[in-house]
Amino acid sequence: MPGLFPSPVCLTVIWFLSWSLRPSRAQIWTDEVSGVQYGHLESNVTLACGKSQIRLPVIWRLNYSSALPWHKVTSDGALVLLHVDHSAQGNYSCYDNQGFLLHSVKLRLGYPPGLLSVSCHVPNHTHVRCSWVELVNTFLPTKYNASFRGNGQEWRPCVLDITRKHCDVDHPAFWQTIHILRITESNGLGSKTTYVHFRLHELLKPDPPESVLVKELEGYPQRLIVSWNFPSSWPLHDAFPLVFHIRYRPKGSIYWSDIYSEESPVVIFDALAGHLHHVQVRARDEVNSDSQWSEWSPLLFARPWEGYTTPEPAEEFPSEDSFTDCSIPDNTKPETSTTKSHNPVLEDEGNLSLVVLLGFFSLVVLTTIPSLIFVVWMRQRRRDHVTKQELTSMVKMKSMPI
Ligand SMILES: *[C@@H]1O[C@H](CO)[C@@H](O)[C@H](O)[C@H]1NC(C)=O
Ligand SMILES: *[C@@H]1O[C@H](CO)[C@@H](O)[C@H](O)[C@H]1NC(C)=O
Ligand SMILES: *[C@@H]1O[C@H](CO)[C@@H](O)[C@H](O)[C@H]1NC(C)=O
Ligand SMILES: *[C@@H]1O[C@H](CO)[C@@H](O)[C@H](O)[C@H]1NC(C)=O
Ligand SMILES: *[C@@H]1O[C@H](CO)[C@@H](O)[C@H](O)[C@H]1NC(C)=O
Repeated sequence: MPGLFPSPVCLTVIWFLSWSLRPSRAQIWTDEVSGVQYGHLESNVTLACGKSQIRLPVIWRLNYSSALPWHKVTSDGALVLLHVDHSAQGNYSCYDNQGFLLHSVKLRLGYPPGLLSVSCHVPNHTHVRCSWVELVNTFLPTKYNASFRGNGQEWRPCVLDITRKHCDVDHPAFWQTIHILRITESNGLGSKTTYVHFRLHELLKPDPPESVLVKELEGYPQRLIVSWNFPSSWPLHDAFPLVFHIRYRPKGSIYWSDIYSEESPVVIFDALAGHLHHVQVRARDEVNSDSQWSEWSPLLFARPWEGYTTPEPAEEFPSEDSFTDCSIPDNTKPETSTTKSHNPVLEDEGNLSLVVLLGFFSLVVLTTIPSLIFVVWMRQRRRDHVTKQELTSMVKMKSMPI
């Protein structure tokens, strides 16, 4: 029941507010010993009816009500609550037989602190942050105290952030092999100290590289260029070099390819043409091989360059194998410019062939139409000729004597 935790705190505040806003009541209370009593859940809790001599019998109430949890009252007027659970929490008050308030106490129930689960992060050589999680839910308000020291050194405070449950140490003695952190958790029922021994150089783990970018390389359907910045928490100093691990794969593949580099940017030479790629970068202290790799940078997606309009770009460019030189920035520019000039020529050639084709077509049209007309005309003439011949022969036949 973690939701139960803040509500008693709020109620205490409200209680104090209402208490301070009612001066008449406060006067009655001045003689009373009032406060908070902490009790162990699932145990028997004894509430005394004040310290002063009391006149028996006394009457106990919880939150103004006479309905009390399972209990007994001892001969000296103390209330013993048996095997308490959370429902026994509240405001207990005892009265004498004339109804005068003798004593009031707020009962809060929970557990004493247990051990903590602690983990420490070392994002650079000058900073340690340890955070913790309680292994026992105490249900009670808690205080912490944390300190830190290298082997054989003085304890130094580890600066606490209670709400986020972590503490920070600046400029730890990095040359010490073993460091000890002790955190003490305390509440109304007790306290517990957790000791953690660790080796800073093994915990050293940079934050992931920042501003990671993956871009196509114009003119190269199998290349991608990856750039990044040092993690901002890592000092930009030659004394602390980082090595970077770049991994990439075509979308859908389960196999990563790797590149290691000390500097940004890096060119991927064997990307799969026309495919979307996943790319990530991580970092590690280059000198200290016991240290840890950072987390991976967020997954980025990029597709290599794919030409402008042509669906079959493979023929337009010289074979990729001919580019084996790795010093990219100097090399790419002239090559890119040649590929750029390649395309307009290609377009011109296309236009020229179109013109030739059109010319040829119009020539065909221009020659066929007159010849067609000529043929039709010739046939018509021949037919005319034939009918004339028939006519003359008929005339001849008619004129012939039978
Ligand atoms: C609580 O009180 C009851 C009754 O007096 C007794 O039987 C029991 O053993 C006590 N439990 C503990 C944990 O002391
Ligand atoms: C008594 O009041 C407290 C708040 O002061 C509350 O948390 C508790 O549940 C109440 N108990 C009962 C039995 O009503
Ligand atoms: C607790 O009980 C006392 C006496 O009955 C009362 O004056 C006080 O207001 C109560 N406080 C709460 C939070 O119930
Ligand atoms: C907290 O730690 C300091 C030293 O680091 C010590 O003096 C103090 O007693 C501690 N307090 C508690 C409650 O443990
Ligand atoms: C080391 O990391 C911490 C936490 O991120 C940061 O506040 C600090 O400025 C870093 N130190 C250097 C020298 O960059």
